[in-house]
Amino acid sequence: MEEQNDYANWLNDRYPFDSEARNKSLEAKVLDYLKPKEVVHLLDVGAGTGSNTLYLMDKIKGDQHWYLIEQDTSFKPIFLRRIEDFATFHKYEWQASNNKIQVTTPTKELSFEFIEGSLLELAQLVRLDKIDLVLANAVFDLFSKEQLQQFLNPIVQAGIACYFTLNYKSQSFHPEDPFDNTFISLYEDHMERPQATGQATGKQVGPYLATYLETFQTIEQGISTWQIQKEDIKMHYYLLSYMERAIPELPIQEEVITLLPKWIQRKKDLVITRQLELTVQHWDIFSYPSNLIKD
Ligand SMILES: C[S@@+](CC[C@H](N)C(=O)[O-])C[C@H]1O[C@@H](n2cnc3c(N)ncnc32)[C@H](O)[C@@H]1O
Repeated sequence: MEEQNDYANWLNDRYPFDSEARNKSLEAKVLDYLKPKEVVHLLDVGAGTGSNTLYLMDKIKGDQHWYLIEQDTSFKPIFLRRIEDFATFHKYEWQASNNKIQVTTPTKELSFEFIEGSLLELAQLVRLDKIDLVLANAVFDLFSKEQLQQFLNPIVQAGIACYFTLNYKSQSFHPEDPFDNTFISLYEDHMERPQATGQATGKQVGPYLATYLETFQTIEQGISTWQIQKEDIKMHYYLLSYMERAIPELPIQEEVITLLPKWIQRKKDLVITRQLELTVQHWDIFSYPSNLIKD
C-alpha cells in the first residue's frame, strides 16, 4: 500500500513537468479538432491519478464526459479528491457518487467516471461508438507491440482519434559524465526487457505507435521535453533512484555493475550542489480519421 502511495506521489509530482513538456502546437491541433463539438466524450487510459484529464479539461471548450480507465484502483480516491479540490477551489458545484463525479462550471458541465480495468480490454469497459478522443499520457513504453496492437485495433476500427503524449524517446545529462551513455543505454535496455507479456517497446514506442496509426489515420507528432533544472532536486532524485534500482536487474557484467553506485553518487553530488540538468525527450502523437471531422 505504501508503495502505491509513493507511486501516486510520483505521478502528482511529475505533473508540472509533464504540463510544461507537452508539445503545445500539437495540443492546439487537438483542441481545434474537438472545437466543433458542443459535447465531447473522452477516454483517458492508464489514467493514474487523473493528471491528463485535469490538464485538458480546462482547455477543452464545451461539455465533457470523461471516462478514466485504470487498473490500479488505489488511484480512484486520489483522482476523485483532485476533482473535488478543483471544483471547491473554483467554487463550482459538484456531486460525487461511487465512481463518478459531476462538476458544473459557469460555462460547461463536466462528468468523470473512474473505470477499473485494463486498457487491453477497452471494448468491454466502454461503448467506443460514443468516444471522440482516446488519450494516454506516459503509459505505453512498457507495453509490447502485440499489446499495443490489441489496444489500438478496436480504436482504429471504431474510427476514433488518438492523442498519446509523453512517450519516452531519449535523455541526456548536463554536465556529461564519461559513463552517461553506458548507464542510459542500460536503463533503456531495462525498459525494453522481455516480460511475460512480450518484449516492451521502450524508446521505440513513439515510432511504433506512429507507424501503426498511420496505416489507418492521419497522424501528426512532435517532441515533448522534460527540462529538469538544477533546482529540481526531488525530480532528479526520483529519476536517479529509478535508474539505480532498474539497472542491476539486468544480467550485466560484474565490472560494469560495480561502476553504477559510483556513477549514481557523482550524479547525486551534482544534484546537491545544484549543478545537474537533465533533458528527457518524448514523442507526443495525435491521429485522427483522415476524411473525418467528427460532429
Ligand atoms: C506512468 S503512469 C501515468 C499515469 C497518468 N496517465 C499520468 O499522466 O499521470 C502509467 C499508468 O498506466 C497504468 N496502467 C498500466 N497498464 C495498464 C493497463 N493494462 N490498463 C490500465 N492501466 C494501466 C498504471 O497503473 C499507471 O497508473
